[in-house]
Amino acid sequence: MSGYGTGTPTSTGSPEDAFDPMGVLFSMEAAADPLPHYAAIRDRCPVAQTRSMMGDAADNWLLSTYEDVMWALRHPEVFSSSPDAVNIGQEHNLIPLQVDPPDHAKYRRTLDPEFSPKRMAALEDDVRALVGEIIDRFVANGSCDFHEDFATPMPSTVFLRLMGMPQSDLPQFLEWRDNTIRPDLDPNDPDSAQKIREATGKAITKYFENAIALRRATPDDNLLSRIVHAQVDGRSFTDDELLGICHLMLLAGLDTVTATLDCMIAYLAQHPDQRQLLVDHPELIDGAIEEMLRTETPVTVVARVVKQEHVMRGCALKPGDGVTIGIGAANGDAEFVDPHKVDFRREGNRHLAFGAGPHRCLGSHLARMELRIALEEFHRRIPEYSIADGTTLMYSPAIRQTFGLPLQW
Ligand code: HEM
Repeated sequence: MSGYGTGTPTSTGSPEDAFDPMGVLFSMEAAADPLPHYAAIRDRCPVAQTRSMMGDAADNWLLSTYEDVMWALRHPEVFSSSPDAVNIGQEHNLIPLQVDPPDHAKYRRTLDPEFSPKRMAALEDDVRALVGEIIDRFVANGSCDFHEDFATPMPSTVFLRLMGMPQSDLPQFLEWRDNTIRPDLDPNDPDSAQKIREATGKAITKYFENAIALRRATPDDNLLSRIVHAQVDGRSFTDDELLGICHLMLLAGLDTVTATLDCMIAYLAQHPDQRQLLVDHPELIDGAIEEMLRTETPVTVVARVVKQEHVMRGCALKPGDGVTIGIGAANGDAEFVDPHKVDFRREGNRHLAFGAGPHRCLGSHLARMELRIALEEFHRRIPEYSIADGTTLMYSPAIRQTFGLPLQW
């Protein structure tokens, strides 16, 4: 998702082309094997002037070092995430993502308790049971398409149950998600992609107008209803605010954990020693999740717009300039000892995969719980697996998920 930021895949071009950092960042090659590409961008142009991540020619900057990325994320007075930062066809400001401090804090005060570690821990048994049921569907086959059969249904089902929305709506949500994040179009046609995003935004508004009205009339104890009836700053949310929250939840809740599961299982399937380490030492799973969030960073970029003039490494950023913040690139920087080594026992892993500063991910406790249970149960039931013979894995840029992940065991 984007506030998260969507991406337009591009080719890296021929060797004699001028270095195109945005082209490299959003290339299929970088999506498949990002760390060396991030290193090339950081080394050649840590603050790069580029076209925008939506593919248009607007003035835009790409930040890729840990220091600059952390600074930008922590200084929303300079790097704003207002709706000018990115347009994914939303009809209402995505809340809390597209609200700058100080207003931002009031939304987080209401929403944070709904995603607290304690509340997420209460979901664990249900999530473990669900994961078991999903694995039951394919374990005896000796194969599955992990992306289709596990990584897509698992977090989506958890999210729909949490929100109190019918499972039968899932195909519709997945279509909206894909049309927003990776519309199936010629990557060099950003205008058509934007039209699809806008039509999708309208459809999402219509769906949630009905869903919100229903919860207003008939409250229940699920998350959507709780938000509809919540207080913010001593008042109820307006309809526009609720629609902005729901739109963001839908994109955040459906795509990110799917992408992360794809990245992690694809890595483990291709690194049998590391997979075996987790099978033999499940107590390393928490550390492995943090390390793979760092080295695989599924949400590779987030978007900002410059609010006040700022000079970074000698480059003058002007108000209105777009900024693509490379959190994946930052996670491969020399801030980390031996940054390209994947070390499940790494200490002090201050990765930026969930962002940093005021907009740090609201759903990180939910995501971590889902990832832990998924990895625990999958490796308990299917300790040995590999990528199916003859497969060439392809990843989508920007939010890295696989286009299919066939496994065999
Ligand atoms: C492994 C999975 C996930 C990853 C990698 C991830 C990553 C991120 C990142 C990088 C940001 C910062 C965006 C920015 O600064 O512009 C963010 C924000 C956010 N995430 Fe997540 N996310 C994940 C899962 C979730 C889930 C499951 C939810 C909830 C259902 C969620 C809800 C949000 C929300 C609402 C924000 C905006 C917070 C704010 O603006 O204050 N995320 N996430």
